[in-house]
Amino acid sequence: MSAGTRTDGTRNGGIRTAGTTPEGTASEREAALRVQEMFGEVAPRYDFLNHLLSLNIDTRWRAHTVRRIKQVLSDPHSRAMDLCCGTGDLLIAMERTAGRPLLGSDFCFPMLAGAARKFHRLGLHSPLFDADGLELPLAGESLDLITIAFGFRNFSNYRRGLAELHRVLRPGGTLAILEFSQPPNHVFRAFYEFYSTHVLPRIGGLISGSSAAYSYLPASVRKFPGAPEFREWILEEGFREVEFDYLSFGIAALHIARK
Ligand SMILES: C[S@@+](CC[C@H](N)C(=O)[O-])C[C@H]1O[C@@H](n2cnc3c(N)ncnc32)[C@H](O)[C@@H]1O
Repeated sequence: MSAGTRTDGTRNGGIRTAGTTPEGTASEREAALRVQEMFGEVAPRYDFLNHLLSLNIDTRWRAHTVRRIKQVLSDPHSRAMDLCCGTGDLLIAMERTAGRPLLGSDFCFPMLAGAARKFHRLGLHSPLFDADGLELPLAGESLDLITIAFGFRNFSNYRRGLAELHRVLRPGGTLAILEFSQPPNHVFRAFYEFYSTHVLPRIGGLISGSSAAYSYLPASVRKFPGAPEFREWILEEGFREVEFDYLSFGIAALHIARK
């Protein structure tokens, strides 16, 4: 499938959406460029807003993720990468747990620059590189662990994304995707929808100066599937033992899979 075309991605009733579709974009290429641009705009205020808008719960979600992958991180021979690392919060927690440098990558340079400043300040050493998650500059079967926190939802083609992660992981390797989800309880979901559609974009837009980015956030979450369906997508792309944990009543979910 060409990166410049949009298809509905339907296959055997599985992945129905090709990928994210920020407002005003008409192709996968435009969608990816818009995502890159939006994260570039919010990068200077990203950490502050993340913690404020999630009431700092995002820190606990990343800590939970690190606990679930601790075994792989503790193996001194395992090769791990945090993809879509943004300003590096998950990678920082991973490097501290592993006690050695890992890899971090993202396709938005201002986010990576924020991560680099933090790593320097904290005396951490994981190398960071600029790469598109749909076309990683890595050999096949070269990693034991790939993590992605709140990045996958932004891919312009979900199936290609999962296929690329599958290519790069070695057999038996672990994939951990932390992503916003759909709370299964309808009452809680309605409350959360109100917050994310009416409150979050106003505060986010005001502080970051990019109202588009903080309107995109709830819109992209709404389009993303609930955890059971996302689990099916991951299975369809050849992973096995796919499990998920709901976090904070299902506002987020952590999916862990093996190649
Ligand atoms: C919401 S931020 C999450 C950052 C970080 N993982 C965290 O937990 O705070 C999403 C990140 O995914 C990155 N991203 C989105 N699509 C990407 C792609 N196709 N390839 C690489 N990075 C991508 C964005 O540039 C952004 O830094």
